[in-house]
Amino acid sequence: MAEVTPIIIDTDPGQDDAVAILLALASPEIDVLGITAVAGNVPLRLTEKNARKICELAGRPDIKVFSGAIRPMVRNLVTAEEVHGKTGLNGPELPDPKMPLQDQYAVDFIVETLMREESGTVTLCALGPLTNIAQALIREPKIAPRIKQLVLMGGGFFEGGNVTPTAEFNIYVDPHAADVVLKSGIQITMMPLDCTHKALTTAKRTASFRNLGSKVGVAVADMLEFFERFDEQKYGTDGGPLHDPCVIAWLLKPELFEGRNINVTVETASELTMGMTVADWWGVTKRPKNVTYMRDIDHEGFFNLLVERLGRL
Ligand code: BDR
Ligand code: CA
Repeated sequence: MAEVTPIIIDTDPGQDDAVAILLALASPEIDVLGITAVAGNVPLRLTEKNARKICELAGRPDIKVFSGAIRPMVRNLVTAEEVHGKTGLNGPELPDPKMPLQDQYAVDFIVETLMREESGTVTLCALGPLTNIAQALIREPKIAPRIKQLVLMGGGFFEGGNVTPTAEFNIYVDPHAADVVLKSGIQITMMPLDCTHKALTTAKRTASFRNLGSKVGVAVADMLEFFERFDEQKYGTDGGPLHDPCVIAWLLKPELFEGRNINVTVETASELTMGMTVADWWGVTKRPKNVTYMRDIDHEGFFNLLVERLGRL
């Protein structure tokens, strides 16, 4: 990637969100125009604070952090403290942030930025429920063709779900927002569980972060050791899946991923399968191909990239 890619990160940190943010801030090919927080892993008042804690950990108190939607569009908020801990960022002891939260509402920031910047230049990176992005699309439909692309972590099909048998957390929390986004006509690259479940934070990989010896390296190792314990128990694996950094890694090194252009539609009616992302992998419907759906990752290359980049912070 020769040019610098301007991005907005929409997120609900979350330890894996935190690593994704750190990866973006460590990478000169990426310009983070702003970070917009959404309710998800934990309530909004914690996700916006956690986003600021991570910027300060990276030595970037200049990054603009905005607070967004306090709850999903239709359903009640579901959180995931059992995975991420009470604060959403359990593991390391990070100080309360000193940098300010921006006054502007996150949805307004997204709309304003997309209407101001040159059309087709800004990439949206979504690491949590899609509430803010759907709200922005509803508030100003003219932004859709101006978005260069949306890269999101969410969904899963072949692997099943992680919060219900059929649904992945980010999509399950706000399936109606996901529906708006998937039908928006934006170019979407999706990192579903089918891909992220192959990116495991093994003990050896966590040690590589710790061995960086830096404040960031140690904090990341502490985060991952807390975060992985839930999935290790659930799946019986060495380490847990490091979902959200896949989004940023794809921007940096798309060759680490393999996928296919397909239709993905989300279930919003049946309670049994609510939030399921139905992936038409074999093209058996005539539904439009709205997503590049990633199914495979070079996990060794992915972790090498992470350690190398986080080592720069
Ligand atoms: C997704 O849900 C959250 O718990 C993680 O941060 C990730 O974005 C994985 O299903
Ligand atoms: Ca997340």
